[in-house]
Amino acid sequence: MEPLSSNLIQWYSANSRDLPWRINKDPYRVWISEIMLQQTRVEAVKGYFARFLSRFPDVASLAMSSEDEVIKYWEGLGYYSRARNLHKCAKAIVSEYGGVFPASKEELLKLPGIGEYTASAIASICYGDKQVAVDGNLYRVFARLNAREKTLLDTKERETCMRYFQNWMENADPGIINQALMDLGELVCLPGGVPHCLQCPFVNECKAHKVGKELFYPAKKPKKEKKSEPLIVFLMQFDGKYVLSKRPDSGLLASLYEFPNVEGTSLEGAKKALEERGIKIKQTKFVGNAIHIFTHKKWDMAYYRAQVSEIDSDSFVLASKEELRSKYAIPSAFAFGLKAIS
Ligand code: ADE
Repeated sequence: MEPLSSNLIQWYSANSRDLPWRINKDPYRVWISEIMLQQTRVEAVKGYFARFLSRFPDVASLAMSSEDEVIKYWEGLGYYSRARNLHKCAKAIVSEYGGVFPASKEELLKLPGIGEYTASAIASICYGDKQVAVDGNLYRVFARLNAREKTLLDTKERETCMRYFQNWMENADPGIINQALMDLGELVCLPGGVPHCLQCPFVNECKAHKVGKELFYPAKKPKKEKKSEPLIVFLMQFDGKYVLSKRPDSGLLASLYEFPNVEGTSLEGAKKALEERGIKIKQTKFVGNAIHIFTHKKWDMAYYRAQVSEIDSDSFVLASKEELRSKYAIPSAFAFGLKAIS
């Protein structure tokens, strides 16, 4: 076995975390956890994971549910295409694989929402395949240990990282190697702030540590300027219920519910646009401004309360206060509006 690999396994046997998706090797649990963990911290995922698993305990229950309900259980985690793909993937596993998870990386990759990282994680953790699940954590450990200057965006470098850790999997459990590297990256070889090098099993081998330049590796991804998009958002009631609309089923925040809104800065223009969509407004009153930052852009929102004089109820959803909480998934981009009416 690679000497560094045996250091890592020793470190993991003393420091691994008891995480709810590690109690067994059930690919369903591992899959859900890996998708949740892609953009979200471990501590934040724990609660979502428990709620999701108690409502959807297996792939069949997930496949049989409605997309709206799956998204509701995802509410607050963000990046909702993950939830939509999860639902699609469950349906595909039931219809094409008789409800049994495929066991090879190649087959896993054919499923919706399962890419290189997730397929490698499932194949290694559940089936002992020698597949390296390269994410930001693994890449950071690799880049510091070997003082590599490229970013994770570099495809060749990613492959080099993969081959490097694949060597560590000879005569070792590939799932343990991946999970140990994930834990090391999250607990010791920290992304922001000073890493805990004295607790690291590679303190004597790490090239970045040797020259005191841990924070220089890996190189930072170039930051893109975020485009600002102005939006006028309306808080409206009709028959004592709040007016919501459903977003289109593709694109940003697809299929989620929102307070009706119109792009732009002109209130008159926004009223006209709403009228074309089936709502006539009498009076408006400015409530406040809010911003929400996405990966690629920023919404600059102006909120107005408005009185509705006519509404085409086929185009909008009317929700009670309780239903806003329990039934409709409203993304955190609209947190200001939810707070304003509570
Ligand atoms: N980060 C991504 N996947 C993880 C996992 N399975 N355990 C802990 N942290 C992770």
